[in-house]
Amino acid sequence: MTTTDMATTTPDAAAGPPRLTRLAFHSPLSETRADALVQRLTRTTPATVLDIGCGWGELMLRVLAATPNATGTGIDINADDVARARRNAADRGLQERAEFVEESATKTTRGPADLVLCTGASQALTTAEPPGHTPEALSELRRLVTDNGRVLLGEGFWQRIPTPAELEGMWPGAAATDHHDLATLLDLAVAAGFRPEWTETANLDEWEEFESAYQADVEVWLAQNPGHPLAAETRDRLDRHRAQWMSYRGVLGLAYLTLVPAL
Ligand SMILES: C[S@@+](CC[C@H](N)C(=O)[O-])C[C@H]1O[C@@H](n2cnc3c(N)ncnc32)[C@H](O)[C@@H]1O
Repeated sequence: MTTTDMATTTPDAAAGPPRLTRLAFHSPLSETRADALVQRLTRTTPATVLDIGCGWGELMLRVLAATPNATGTGIDINADDVARARRNAADRGLQERAEFVEESATKTTRGPADLVLCTGASQALTTAEPPGHTPEALSELRRLVTDNGRVLLGEGFWQRIPTPAELEGMWPGAAATDHHDLATLLDLAVAAGFRPEWTETANLDEWEEFESAYQADVEVWLAQNPGHPLAAETRDRLDRHRAQWMSYRGVLGLAYLTLVPAL
């Protein structure tokens, strides 16, 4: 296929593969669970919201839409995601109440806030290596939330201990110590000064939707642009990620813990 052919068949092929355009959230989270979370997290009418590792801040924007007097700050190091968050805030008329900053959340001086969101992003709060990163992130979350506030922690856990073969297929250097089981995760939250108000975990449907949507736009792009200069590396990336997902499917869990500070 020549460059001219590519331009004819797919006008924007030169732009390269799309990125995460089919995901509503950058985590395995269904619309049903998101609605329930927003309802629960806004029961206490938070005035301030802090979203750690916010990505494009979809959950925080929904919380702000449901809490008309609240203001929120989302923190992320990914410039593309921060730009998407700002665009979405403007599209929904929330730009006066939603601030998105491109910076690291490690040792952040922002907060404390009445509601702290941290889903799939505890690594943003600590430089500690697993398994020490979870207690350190929880201690940071306790520092960042007001005494009568709430924390939503979306954190990985092992649904069962992975076999050596499964670990071998996961992310580079994956180890059984990378995560805790759910009971230990809850114990760590309690040890950090919280009580668990609500405990829920992403189900297989949410994982499959998330992992499919994670790759779907790029898979379609690759299928339609086999001659693109980025096709080979894109194919490698997709194949690698699919193999990893097939190794952690049903083994890696994602817990959504609504935590209340213990006074
Ligand atoms: C799996 S995504 C989750 C995004 C979002 N919380 C959600 O659930 O849709 C993890 C996010 O953490 C961000 N992140 C990683 N390290 C960070 C750091 N040190 N400071 C701020 N954000 C960080 C990444 O850029 C990424 O957007």
